[in-house]
Amino acid sequence: MAVSARIHMLLLLISLLSRLGLGRYIEVRNPSFPMLACRCLDMLATEGQFTFMTAQPQLACAAFLIGEPTEVISLELSDVNIDCSAGDFIKIFDGWVLKGEKFPSSQDHPLPLRQRYTDYCSSSAAGGAVLSSQNVAMVFFRIHSPDSGFTLTVKKQHNPMPCNIMSQSPEGSFTMVMPHHHWNCSFSIIYPVELQLTELSLGQRPMRWGCTGSGDYVELLGGNGVDTSKMYPMADLCFSPTQMRMGCDNSVVRLVSSGNYVNRVSFRYRLLGRSEQPQASENSLDDFCTVG
Ligand SMILES: *[C@@H]1O[C@H](CO)[C@@H](O)[C@H](O)[C@H]1NC(C)=O
Repeated sequence: MAVSARIHMLLLLISLLSRLGLGRYIEVRNPSFPMLACRCLDMLATEGQFTFMTAQPQLACAAFLIGEPTEVISLELSDVNIDCSAGDFIKIFDGWVLKGEKFPSSQDHPLPLRQRYTDYCSSSAAGGAVLSSQNVAMVFFRIHSPDSGFTLTVKKQHNPMPCNIMSQSPEGSFTMVMPHHHWNCSFSIIYPVELQLTELSLGQRPMRWGCTGSGDYVELLGGNGVDTSKMYPMADLCFSPTQMRMGCDNSVVRLVSSGNYVNRVSFRYRLLGRSEQPQASENSLDDFCTVG
């Protein structure tokens, strides 16, 4: 992950988390710094062993983990020294939670919400690695007593069928393929971007009456949170390639699949320049984040 992209993500997290009073803990990690110490609020994009040790109570900490689009993340806790009975906890979440919103959304995640949390304090057989369902995962922790901590081992594994994805960078390209599964998959880019759909292949039939009736289509969503079910639909596409500027903080390509076909969508995206982004006065709901 490029340093600039990582700094952008941390700044984004600061703005999203400042309401929770977490922002003051953030420090931008120097990626060439060899010591793998985890901070109270951190973004971890590499494999490794990260140790968190605190000299003072840390009541609201979170580590955001991210991999490449075609990776899932394996997380394993070891050397855990916390006092569950005093209210300390460590929880692993299968996805990200920002401002109370979850990615992937409850609708699009293969597991029910409760099964996406692994609570170190309440899981009977502590130990064993937890594997995420997509390229992002998260660890929440609260530690009261001094000189407590834990070690987190982060490994990446190849994901042969990536469905929900958070992009690490504001530019790139990707092809989502959904072969005969009744799944909906979202590719989320937490930047305002210009998006170019270069290939769209959804079943065999060109649709005559719009897309959403068909059960196989691509939704472009814009919004300022990460839960795709709460974002604004900006376009439904099922036929022709297109290009669009999306001025929201989060831009999503969501592939809706009936399971009857092999669906495929390819796209490219690049960061919108500051002058291309919507002005504050253009904030009527209809064209909330649309530009040009
Ligand atoms: C996929 O999304 C569509 C539209 O949001 C919804 O109607 C359908 O139930 C979803 N399918 C699954 C399997 O979640």
